[in-house]
Amino acid sequence: MSIFRFLAAAAVLLLPVYPAQPVRAKKAMVVSREAHATDAGVAVLKAGGNAVDAAVAVGFALAVTHPSAGNLGGGGFMLVRFADGRKTFVDFREMAPAKAGRDMYLDASGNPTKDSMIGWRASGVPGTVRGFELAHKKYGKLGWAKLVAPSVDLAKKGFPLSYGTARSLKGAKNLAASEESKRIFLKNGDYFEPGDVLKQPELGAVLERIAKNGPDDFYQGETAKRLAKEMADHGGTITLEDLKNYKAVERAPLEGKYRGYDIVTAPPPSSGGIGILQMLAVLEKTKFAETGAGSAQSVHYMAEAMRRFYADRAEFFGDPDFYKVPVKQLTEKKYTDKLRASIDPSRATPSDEVKHGEIDVKESTETTHYSIVDAEGNAVAVTYTLNGGYGSGVTVPGLGFLMNNEMDDFSVKPGAPNMYGAIGGEANAIVAGKRPLSSMTPTIILRDGKPVLVVGTPGGTRIITSVFEVIVNVLDFHMNVQDAVNAPRFHHQWKPDRLQMEPGFSPDTRALLAQRGHTIETVAGICEIAAIEFERGGWLAGAADPRIDGKAAGY
Ligand code: DON
Repeated sequence: MSIFRFLAAAAVLLLPVYPAQPVRAKKAMVVSREAHATDAGVAVLKAGGNAVDAAVAVGFALAVTHPSAGNLGGGGFMLVRFADGRKTFVDFREMAPAKAGRDMYLDASGNPTKDSMIGWRASGVPGTVRGFELAHKKYGKLGWAKLVAPSVDLAKKGFPLSYGTARSLKGAKNLAASEESKRIFLKNGDYFEPGDVLKQPELGAVLERIAKNGPDDFYQGETAKRLAKEMADHGGTITLEDLKNYKAVERAPLEGKYRGYDIVTAPPPSSGGIGILQMLAVLEKTKFAETGAGSAQSVHYMAEAMRRFYADRAEFFGDPDFYKVPVKQLTEKKYTDKLRASIDPSRATPSDEVKHGEIDVKESTETTHYSIVDAEGNAVAVTYTLNGGYGSGVTVPGLGFLMNNEMDDFSVKPGAPNMYGAIGGEANAIVAGKRPLSSMTPTIILRDGKPVLVVGTPGGTRIITSVFEVIVNVLDFHMNVQDAVNAPRFHHQWKPDRLQMEPGFSPDTRALLAQRGHTIETVAGICEIAAIEFERGGWLAGAADPRIDGKAAGY
C-alpha cells in the first residue's frame, strides 16, 4: 500500500462511513443520474463513438428519462478535455429573449413577481439542441441521427419509472400549472408508481424530427414554429426570431493550479470555476488537511473559504459578453493571500464582517450532471438544466417537452434574492440577448498532462462548494472517488450566516464548529455528484452519488 493510500484509509476512518467501491473499468466510463441514459452513452461508445458523441446521446436520453432536469427546453455547459491536450467549453446557456427587459418581473410597486419562476414568461431561449449540435459537428465521430436514436426509442416505447423519478413527479407541484404537463406526467390524473412505464409520444416525434431534419428543426423548423405559436398564444416572450438567433458558443475554459494539479473548469457566465480556483488557492498554504476529512479544523477552513467566495459572487458576476467579470483579480495570488490571511483558525468570521448583502437559501437539486471518458482518453463533463425542478412547469402543447425557468437566474431585482437565495447586482441584470449567471461547474483535473478527475453536480449555489469538496476529498484526503462522493457534505454561502451540514458528521465535530462560532443547520441531500477518477494501474473509477439512483457503467 502506498503511503498515500495508507493516509487515505486513515482519513476515511475519521468519517462514520464504510469505505465504498466505485465501478471500475479499463477503457471507458459513463456516470449519469439515470440508468437508461448511462446505458445509451455506453452503447454509443461501444459503437465507436467518442466521449462527445456519448455526451450528446446521454443528454438527449436524459431529456426523456429525467424530465425534471434533462431537457430540450433548457441549457447548460459542456467541458471537454481531449486526449491530445486540447480543451474547450461549449456554452449553451439560455439567452434572454429580445422582448426581455430589466424590470419585466416587477409588479407596479417594484416588487418581484413569481413570473420568473413559473409559467410561460419564465423561460430563456433554450440552448441545449444547439449546444449538442456545435459539440457534435466539431468534435463528434458518429452520425447525428445515431446519437438521437436512443432517446427516440425511450420516448416512444416508454421506460419503467425508477422509485426516485416516480417520487419526484409526485412532488412536482409546479406541473399542476399546465394542463399539458398534467396530461403527460400524471397517469389519468393519478400519480405514476415506480415501475409504471412512461411513454412520451409527442416528445418522441420531436426527437425523431431532430434526428431526421437536424437541430434546425428545433430553431427554425416545425418544432420552432409550434413553440413560437404556443408562446404567443399563452403570453410567453420567446418568438421564432429569438429561436433563429440563438447561438451556442465556445469559450476558453478557466484554468488554474492547485498543489501541482491543473484545474480546468467553467468560465463565466458560470461563477463556479472562479469559486473553485479561489477557494483552492485560499486553502493551499494552510494546514487544513492535517486533521483529516470531516474534522472541525478542515471543515472550518473550507467553510471560511466558501464564505469569502460567496461574498464576491454576489457582487462581481454576470454574462462576460455584457459585463467584464474580474476573473483575474478574484483568483490572483495577491488577492487569495489576503483572503487567507483574514481567516481566524479558531473563530468563524461573522459574515457581516466579510461584506454586506442578504441571501436566503432555498434549494432544489434539479439540474443534472454527467461525466464521460472514452477509450481514447477524451473526457467530457456536462451540466445542463431547466433551472428549477421541471423548469417553468410548462410542457409545450403537442411538443412534449418542458420549458426552463432560467430567467430567474438573472437578478430580477438587483439586491433581491432569487429562488436559490442568491442575490446579484447590475452585472447580472436582465438585458435582451444576455445569458443569466450560473453556478454550474463541470470540472476536469489533470496532473502532468494526464487527466485525474472528471466531476460536476446539480444543486444551485451548492454546486460550487460540493465540487470543491469532492476535489479536496480526492486530492488532499486521498479518498477513492466513491468515498469522496459519498462523504457527508457541507455548505456555506456567506449569507445567511449558516453552515449547512449533512447528517453523518460526528457530534464532536459539530460541537467544535459551534464553539468556533459557526451556526450549524442540518440539511440532507446536498447535491448529486457524478465523477470519474483515473486511478493508478489504468483503471477508470466511476462514482454515481448514493443520494440518488444514478448509474456508473463502463467496459
Ligand atoms: O445555472 C445555475 O446555477 C442554476 N440554474 C442551476 C440550477 C440547479 O442546479 C438546480 N438544482 N439545484
